[in-house]
Amino acid sequence: MSSFTPGRAARPEPEWLITADFEDFDLGPLTTGKEAEVFLVERRAGQRACWLVHKRYRPRSVTNKGELEALGFQRSASFANDQIYRDGRRYPKRTRDRRAVERMTRYGKQLVNERWAGHELEIMQTAWRAGADVPYPVGDTIDGMLMEYIGDARAAAPTLARARLGRAELDSAFVQIVDNLHRLLDVGIVHADPSPFNVLWWEGRVWLIDFPQAVEVAVNPHALGMLHRDVDNLCRYFARRRVDCDTDKVYADLLDHWSPR
Ligand SMILES: Nc1ncnc2c1ncn2[C@@H]1O[C@H](COP(=O)(O)OP(=O)(O)O)[C@@H](O)[C@H]1O
Ligand SMILES: [Mg+2]
Repeated sequence: MSSFTPGRAARPEPEWLITADFEDFDLGPLTTGKEAEVFLVERRAGQRACWLVHKRYRPRSVTNKGELEALGFQRSASFANDQIYRDGRRYPKRTRDRRAVERMTRYGKQLVNERWAGHELEIMQTAWRAGADVPYPVGDTIDGMLMEYIGDARAAAPTLARARLGRAELDSAFVQIVDNLHRLLDVGIVHADPSPFNVLWWEGRVWLIDFPQAVEVAVNPHALGMLHRDVDNLCRYFARRRVDCDTDKVYADLLDHWSPR
């Protein structure tokens, strides 16, 4: 079912990435997602240039439309209940901060927001090092993170939900996604929302994106339950498109090959 082979060599930083003496230019918004807005950024250094994506999280403590617009956002964040995701995550150590988070004061919301943003970067770094197909996580910014842009000069990579995949491509996408679930699980990560809206399809390859809700098996008691739900949602989606898949087989295979690092 999966082409997963454990144990990959250390992964070098991508060659295309400019890391010294650069300037970043905002080329404008790419998309407006649920919780974030995604901007295209051109990084220039002399004659060289590369494209990056700047994912900016909408501040949850600011809901006033005018204030949001002043910060460059179009809509406010729509987090309803993220308790199950935050469960077991490292809470603020200082009692004052912890109390602010528990009571969800304005300051508390701000703290959660910052933690959430840092969380996605950390998870993507771990995932990338584990050999998963995720955009290279470049680093953090004041309100989000920079990562590799998937696409070309004409268009950004479509999500799986928008890409029109043929028969063989659907089979391949499914195998690739499951392969990535193996790689993530190996380093203790469960994506918790690998829907067709959070998988990009580009030149025959899948790219997993959108990790803020990802959970760590070591600290979140719901993680394996979420993995089962992820697998089930994926299998339903692909089975409707006549891909041969079975939730329980894929899930059992994931647990069988799980070799925590
Ligand atoms: N690295 C990337 N390259 C190209 N497009 C991207 C990239 N990351 C995100 N996008 C686009 O931005 C959209 C929103 O990003 P996502 O991380 O899913 O945030 P949200 O939480 O808002 O759904 C995606 O559906 C995709 O179209
Ligand atoms: Mg998304």
